[in-house]
Amino acid sequence: MAFLEVDNIATYYGNIQALKGVSLAVEEGECVTLIGSNGAGKSTTLRSISALTPPRTGTIKLAGEEIQNLPPQEIVGLGICQSPEGRKCFQRMTVRENLELGAYLRRDHTQIQTDLKRVFELFPRLDERQSQKAGTMSGGEQQMLAIGRAMMGSPKVLLLDEPSMGISPVLTERIYETIAEINKEGMTILLVEQNANFALDVSKRGYVLETGKVVMSDESTSLRTNPEVMKAYLGT
Ligand SMILES: Nc1ncnc2c1ncn2[C@@H]1O[C@H](COP(=O)(O)OP(=O)(O)OP(=O)(O)O)[C@@H](O)[C@H]1O
Ligand SMILES: [Mg+2]
Repeated sequence: MAFLEVDNIATYYGNIQALKGVSLAVEEGECVTLIGSNGAGKSTTLRSISALTPPRTGTIKLAGEEIQNLPPQEIVGLGICQSPEGRKCFQRMTVRENLELGAYLRRDHTQIQTDLKRVFELFPRLDERQSQKAGTMSGGEQQMLAIGRAMMGSPKVLLLDEPSMGISPVLTERIYETIAEINKEGMTILLVEQNANFALDVSKRGYVLETGKVVMSDESTSLRTNPEVMKAYLGT
């Protein structure tokens, strides 16, 4: 039994079927990546897990318990925390307030302070800019903030939707170094990317999604050298 198990989910937006039977599994402590082009259903897969767009059929299990019928706040409470596509930071709130909001369901005040300190260690820029309004931070800084905010939920599973979107290669590298570090400390991560280079470097295994279906799954090292993957997702 994997820690997070997605089994044959179908997810719709009205009449549009975005996921056509997606299955995937993430072991405890593992970093798994989901790659695919625009509209493949990557974000919908994460949104299905976090119940923002619940699946119509299929099951999602965390540590063996079915969670696909729970509301989003209970999913967060169970420790599935998402850094959404496009970051979605609260623009008029400060960096620190955004981070504190990530912990709003928690009551373990001492641990919250420890986690805040850890986020500031991982992202020193956020520490320097604690009282800056999120909306005036650069795109890359807001990405760090979105990841930091998800980490403030005390995640057991971290869902990261395109952490490299719209960010310079140098900053992307820094963010990926941090993702690798978080994973090395034992965090279970499900990562979504269009830009597969970094994602396959940091992850152990990967799934390729095309028009709402998983068409390939393998060790990341194998996907990296797979000619079809190289052509479609690695720009080589
Ligand atoms: N709110 C919505 N209403 C209707 N259709 C939607 C909605 N959100 C997504 N879709 C459709 O669902 C499908 C999957 O979209 P999704 O956002 O999951 O793709 P993605 O793989 O994350 O793509 P991208 O790399 O561009 O972010 C697409 O066909 C998209 O048009
Ligand atoms: Mg997306």
